[in-house]
Amino acid sequence: MEAIVLAAGKGTRMCSELPKVLHPVFGKPVLGYVLETLAGAGMKNPFVVVGYKAEEVRSFLKVYGATAVLQREQKGTGHAVMAAGPALKNRQGPVLIWPGDMPLVKPETLEKFLAEHKKSRAHVSVLSCFQEDPSGYGRIMREEGHFAAIREELDATPEEHVIREVNTGIYLFDKKVLFEALERVGRDNQKGEYYLTDTVEILRREGYCVEAFSLASAEEGQGINSQKDLATVTKKINEREITKHQEEGVTFMAPEQTFIAPDVKIGKGTTIYPWCFIESGVEIGRECAIGPFAKIRHDTVIGDGAVIGSFVEVNRSHLGKKVLAKHLTYLGDAVIGDGTNIGAGTVTANFDGKRKHQTLIGKNVMIGSNTVFVAPVRIPDGARTGAGSVVIPKIKIKKGDVVVGVPARPISKKKR
Ligand code: UD1
Ligand code: MG
Repeated sequence: MEAIVLAAGKGTRMCSELPKVLHPVFGKPVLGYVLETLAGAGMKNPFVVVGYKAEEVRSFLKVYGATAVLQREQKGTGHAVMAAGPALKNRQGPVLIWPGDMPLVKPETLEKFLAEHKKSRAHVSVLSCFQEDPSGYGRIMREEGHFAAIREELDATPEEHVIREVNTGIYLFDKKVLFEALERVGRDNQKGEYYLTDTVEILRREGYCVEAFSLASAEEGQGINSQKDLATVTKKINEREITKHQEEGVTFMAPEQTFIAPDVKIGKGTTIYPWCFIESGVEIGRECAIGPFAKIRHDTVIGDGAVIGSFVEVNRSHLGKKVLAKHLTYLGDAVIGDGTNIGAGTVTANFDGKRKHQTLIGKNVMIGSNTVFVAPVRIPDGARTGAGSVVIPKIKIKKGDVVVGVPARPISKKKR
């Protein structure tokens, strides 16, 4: 099946220069979530209609193997689908249409929607949902229970405003009738745009079978038109991720004050204290304690039984089993062996203004409070640094050495 994703709009209501679909949720553009859902359902090469800042959106698409089609002027959702017409390979068969600002619909809902569409043999099926507050969405109009039309908010009468069944903007169309109907869509509405939603009324009048399936939950039907919507979607994605980890035996002391991106692994028996922010791609072992107030950034792996305490930031680092970094620390580009203790206030100075450098710390090392590692440096197994040491690259440190001072140098057993 072919799919068209609509992503050409600026997103005026976002009050932002960034195209709406590129606004990140946990570092990943909203459009990425949509493309991943489609790929999960087997639609790996959708057509994406681009327009506003087309090049920016186009370059993001490369990662996903989607094909961009250009809508030069943004004259509405119907106009956007028209722009994709010439790109479609076959003029017949079903086509899925999905707005790029609708990232919460789950793959299983898409599957149900596909099945219902097939069963009903409809020429167009619309995925709908019921919203407590339907404002902003197109209303699903029914006559004696039968789906008849979609009425946009601005064009709705007060009676139509109270309808709570709304359009998610996700449709399955028979391609042939879609493009025939689009030819007939006018722009006689409050926005003066070519509405894709008008095709429903047109097709129904001509005797085609139109259906609306309310298979999506209110949460899934949450689109993004404003900054407030973006925050709501972020919250929902966070809740979904936390629920997944809870089901796998991770304890969250305050889920609402904890932020976990998608694609994070956390082992059983780990406790996450409040106000932690954990980025995509992080792996945390079993029986760890994280936070409160910890930021764990991408490409970080934390071994079983480790403790990452308050005001600790870890970035692109590998921490072994039972590493303790309990207070006020920055670990960037570090590799730390099992059983090492990182004293309060330890900082890896990993950036020289041009490049990032590694700090390699062995097993069972004791790092004294306020140690600074001016990377690249290497601390062998069993070594110690004194409080306030500044460890610089040139000085050779051997296994079991104790180094102190600025710059840090090994001291003899007698002087320790
Ligand atoms: C649209 C629907 C509404 C539905 C809602 C669900 C129409 C007329 N209305 O309204 O019934 O309830 O989605 O979220 O379709 N776009 C283009 N080119 C354009 C205009 C829009 O590509 O010329 C893209 C946008 O980038 C966006 C998507 O289409 O990703 C939807 O456009 P948007 O302006 O957000 O429509 P809504 O007002 O949300
Ligand atoms: Mg929208």
